[in-house]
Amino acid sequence: MSSLDVWEDDVLKRYPEPGVPEKKKEEFRNYDSPENDSVREFYRLNHKYQTYGNVLAKKANFLQFDKKEMPWWAAMEYLNTLIDDSDPDTSLDQLQHLLQTAEAIRADGHPDWFVLTGFIHDLGKVLCLFGEPQWNVVGDSFPVGCKFSDKIVYPEFFSDNPDSTDERYNTKYGVYTHQCGLDNIHMSWGHDEYLYHITKDYLPEEALYMIRYHSFYSQHREHAYDHLLNAHDHEMFKWVDKFNPYDLYSKSPKPPVVSELKPYYEDLIAKYLPATVKL
Ligand SMILES: [Fe+2]
Ligand SMILES: [Fe+2]
Repeated sequence: MSSLDVWEDDVLKRYPEPGVPEKKKEEFRNYDSPENDSVREFYRLNHKYQTYGNVLAKKANFLQFDKKEMPWWAAMEYLNTLIDDSDPDTSLDQLQHLLQTAEAIRADGHPDWFVLTGFIHDLGKVLCLFGEPQWNVVGDSFPVGCKFSDKIVYPEFFSDNPDSTDERYNTKYGVYTHQCGLDNIHMSWGHDEYLYHITKDYLPEEALYMIRYHSFYSQHREHAYDHLLNAHDHEMFKWVDKFNPYDLYSKSPKPPVVSELKPYYEDLIAKYLPATVKL
């Protein structure tokens, strides 16, 4: 896959904005395109290698936060050094995507912590800059340690995942129990889980759910893991649902001007977050 955006474009194709004409949706279903091959290849790797063991190993490494420390704004600019080479005409750089998401949330009059969440929600993609392969950074997220749902995109690729034949992990509940709650579950590793751990002491719980589960499409679109969620998770998922359209569909015709918005976002960062972020 040449670009992180290939996965995100695919998410948009699967979940087009309500009201988009059917013709456009048909164009999206062009399964023979080279672009589609790279999406398949991305999911083949993601589903093969996102094992319970991978998640524990990545947590043991990255949750040390010993890679880099810098002011938050500098970290956002650092993220922006991730260059997208797949579609230079239409794709946004990372900072533009984050500002557009946040500005759309702000324009709808939501609380400032919600705006801040929109602004930072993809910062965890700095994992790519630490040499992590894309299948370990982006992609739909899902629980590991129990049976992979067939509601996850390209479920057939899970047959290559060793956990699929490991009887500790391949039953409906695996290492978990009925409605044990998402906080007791290991999600596949990626930018969502990583940023959750970076921000968990600073943001309201609603914001933390948005950050941690914003790529958990098989749950928020298909309710594939209701047997693991508890009542509190369901309550909090209303916020994930509220956040998701901003992430997917905030494309403003007039790109935000970073220098004009920087003071507002610097203030928001200062209100909620420590001066530096440890990555
Ligand atoms: Fe994301
Ligand atoms: Fe995003």
